[in-house]
Amino acid sequence: MSDLDGKRILLIIGGGIAAYKGLELIRALRKKNASVRCIMTRAAGEFVTPLSVASLSGDKVYSDLFSLTDEAEMGHIELSRDADLLVVAPATANLIAKMAHGEADDLASTALLATDKRVLIAPAMNVRMWLHAATQRNMAQLKEDGILSVGPDEGEMACGEFGPGRMAEPSEIVVAIENALKGATVLPFPGAQVAGGVARLEPPRPLAGRHVLITAGPTHEPIDPVRYIANRSSGKQGYALAAAALAAGARVTLVSGPVGIEPPEGVAVVPVETAIEMQAAAEKALPADIAIFAAAVADWRVAEAGQHKLKKTGEGAPAMQLVENPDILAGISRRKEKRPELVVGFAAETQDVIANAKAKLDRKGCDLIIANDVSAAGGVMGGEDNTVHVVGHGGVETWKTMKKADVAARLIALFAQRLKPRHG
Ligand code: C5P
Repeated sequence: MSDLDGKRILLIIGGGIAAYKGLELIRALRKKNASVRCIMTRAAGEFVTPLSVASLSGDKVYSDLFSLTDEAEMGHIELSRDADLLVVAPATANLIAKMAHGEADDLASTALLATDKRVLIAPAMNVRMWLHAATQRNMAQLKEDGILSVGPDEGEMACGEFGPGRMAEPSEIVVAIENALKGATVLPFPGAQVAGGVARLEPPRPLAGRHVLITAGPTHEPIDPVRYIANRSSGKQGYALAAAALAAGARVTLVSGPVGIEPPEGVAVVPVETAIEMQAAAEKALPADIAIFAAAVADWRVAEAGQHKLKKTGEGAPAMQLVENPDILAGISRRKEKRPELVVGFAAETQDVIANAKAKLDRKGCDLIIANDVSAAGGVMGGEDNTVHVVGHGGVETWKTMKKADVAARLIALFAQRLKPRHG
């Protein structure tokens, strides 16, 4: 399976002689099982026909910002958010200038401004235009904004001159696309680096020097040596958060109940079984700047677990006294000392998701609740995707359905923003 299998690329074709290579790029991407949706600028239509682009991409071509039918089918915001990556090839001097200045006067530039996804550009222009101080200044700005780039290459150009300005070959652009897609597809922070002409993901580290504590997975509350009470929890969302916090530069302590997945390398894992053990490990891990409680802690434990396996006696089921487990999240939220600056809880609900989450926010004393609907229809439990509502004291934000890794990257970016900046 290729790295591009099932990936959605929004290809923006600018108006330059290299636009014909855009066709080759579409073919190469489709061959690797990526889906390609195309926007053409008006000038691109002078070099390639929308019909050839549409037939190669197998989709209609979008070109007019004010087309009411297009907006009804898929608005420019949806268009740019529905993709895993935006690719601009060829990126003309004009498109680069618009991007650098945040201009949005046609569909291509509007989609580029509206997106929250990574953007990779393949510049192509006359050598003098490329070397012009204005283009170089615009490129420096794009680099600072986290835009990735590939090329331009050196060589003889269509205009007869020689030097840098030729668009990178489609095969080079495909490699750059594969590199760009290796991280989370949603851009967590502006500022990815471009080095050596080929895209490399080096996101900034807004949590450098910070400690993030995460609880994840279920707890197992023993009934006897072979039986236990537990909640359903794969641990995937908590582990994805640990990976995202690590990528953002944090030191991460992951207090984990029993799960069947591997922790991200570089995270300090504290394996636990029961709620009491989870509480002790979480408390011991303090101080932390951010504490995220993603574990599905069993609400009750058996007052006195059997020392030996309970046997069927033929006299009916054994009586079992349950006692309440400590609320780890509430305990840490309400600490006078060593309370993390940001305390985040999760709420897995099957009905009245937001109302229940708001009530939980107050009851637990935390700063945010990330609520999700885990009713069977949603397939959140153990699945790859998640739809979350971010419930804070200031209001509720509902996010569209995303991969758990993307949800994690966005949440970590949000949490990082909520921390008071450190001086010095
Ligand atoms: O009350 P409820 O279990 O729905 O609350 C869910 C949130 O509280 C989650 O963030 C969970 O990790 C946390 N929790 C906890 N300790 C408990 C129960 C829940 O930390 N005993």
